[in-house]
Amino acid sequence: MTEDNEINVKSMIETLKKSSVYLEVFNEYRCAIMEVETKLKVLDMEMSMDREKNPIETIQSRLKSPESILEKMERKGYPLTLESMRKNLMDIAGIRVICDYIDDIYKLEKYLSSQNDITVLDRDDYIKNPKVNGYRSLHLTVEVPIFLTGGPRPIPVEVQFRTMAMDFWASLEHKLKYKKHISQETDIGVRLKKCADQAAALDKEMMQIRKDIDSYMKEDE
Ligand code: GTP
Ligand code: MG
Repeated sequence: MTEDNEINVKSMIETLKKSSVYLEVFNEYRCAIMEVETKLKVLDMEMSMDREKNPIETIQSRLKSPESILEKMERKGYPLTLESMRKNLMDIAGIRVICDYIDDIYKLEKYLSSQNDITVLDRDDYIKNPKVNGYRSLHLTVEVPIFLTGGPRPIPVEVQFRTMAMDFWASLEHKLKYKKHISQETDIGVRLKKCADQAAALDKEMMQIRKDIDSYMKEDE
């Protein structure tokens, strides 16, 4: 028997990553990301035809790391089993869609969620209802079937839609969160919230400018 204090957690996780169960399960989430990403790229291509400009700026995907999965399951008090991980964690597969304008976000949501093989499990609209710190994005948890040799298996994928301005704010705020030595009593939170509101005002005005340009162009036709 190996003593517990001889086991290195890092090498334990590395060993797990090479095991066949790990590869099988994580490949399912990888396939689900591929499915949803393709759907978004197809919509992007189609929507760009009547506007000469793609609504999607970038798509970023990530699989949650085994370390983060374990941390989240322990934090939330879920049983540490594969079944519980599949049932409780909806963000193992994550896709972030960065759009040019807010109205593109809602169009993409509508076209994606109305597809036959997509089931929306959860929706948090932090654009209409921003978090108290100013965070804005539209979060959708969708379920997509992946077709394996043994039949279809539904897999959840978390899709976050944001504009470039929302992403700029969220990325910096995320990095700043880790600088925890700053006392809670400072005005940092208030100033970050103000930046989020300024980013939102920028999004609104840029969308209005685009709409105005579109209508001037229609008048010229
Ligand atoms: P957790 O996944 O445990 O956080 O719980 P939840 O599903 O209730 O979280 P929520 O839907 O609020 O957020 C999920 C993801 O959105 C996070 O992992 C981040 O990527 C992003 N997010 C949410 N709130 C914030 C925020 O205040 N700042 C930043 N930068 N990102 C956020
Ligand atoms: Mg959530």
